[in-house]
Amino acid sequence: MIIATTIQEVRDQVRAWRREGLTVGLVPTMGYLHEGHASLIRASAAACDRTVVSVFVNPTQFGPNEDLESYPRDFARDSALCEATGADLVFHPEVIEMYSHPADTFVEILSEMPKQLCGRTRPIHFRGVCTVVSKLFNIVLPDKAFFGEKDAQQLAIIRHMVRDMSYGIEIVGCPIVREADGLAISSRNTYLNPQERQAALCLSRSIALGKQMVQEGERDAAKVLQAMTEVLEKEPLARIDYVQAVDGISMEPVSELSQDVLVAMAVYIGKTRLIDNFSVRL
Ligand code: PAF
Repeated sequence: MIIATTIQEVRDQVRAWRREGLTVGLVPTMGYLHEGHASLIRASAAACDRTVVSVFVNPTQFGPNEDLESYPRDFARDSALCEATGADLVFHPEVIEMYSHPADTFVEILSEMPKQLCGRTRPIHFRGVCTVVSKLFNIVLPDKAFFGEKDAQQLAIIRHMVRDMSYGIEIVGCPIVREADGLAISSRNTYLNPQERQAALCLSRSIALGKQMVQEGERDAAKVLQAMTEVLEKEPLARIDYVQAVDGISMEPVSELSQDVLVAMAVYIGKTRLIDNFSVRL
């Protein structure tokens, strides 16, 4: 497995693969890799001849009071996981390599879409995500790129950006990976102390209840969201940011739980903000 730190090295390697007629998959990550990322890398390795994993904590997607400095990092562990799961190249640039000039150019969706859900408390987040993902697409020029459904709004936004900007890249969404007790796997779970780790189960319990109500035929979003909210409110360490039902493409709030509606939540457990979701499948 190759470890590249410069854009030029990645371009040269991908060009060499292209000359051999090989297809290329990209898995963008911020490192501190876990089983969720492993599932993306495996999906790429299964679908493409070569897989590039980027490991880059992207400063432009963090707000001024967010966890950019404390975001967990462990590149030795990350590269071992990449190798074990079938990556061929890990791109691990310094910030100066990705943003070598003062960053004046951003990729931003101007509709309400990035302002909904997580955008309400993270106003510049999706502009940073779209910008760095665009840059990675331009550097790697992959055939396919793989993203987790846990970040459902991010996935919808990237699909939208790819369509608007005519990137010839197939975006593949991969299912949420959960711990044995239900907690959606996230790099931020490492922030939780043992008591908070236990409290964090209220998210997956609330998601499971919502899913079950939909399976049993409930279509009224307000009723399902109310029941889900009550589960969260029973947990003293939890503080709800949002629990919402939105159209799976536009992210606009909906009142009826029809096919592909996204039911999503963000909840603070102590200081740690966690997200979880499910999509309505009828
Ligand atoms: O999902 C993430 O880890 C990040 O938002 C991404 C897509 C790697 C962009 O920095």
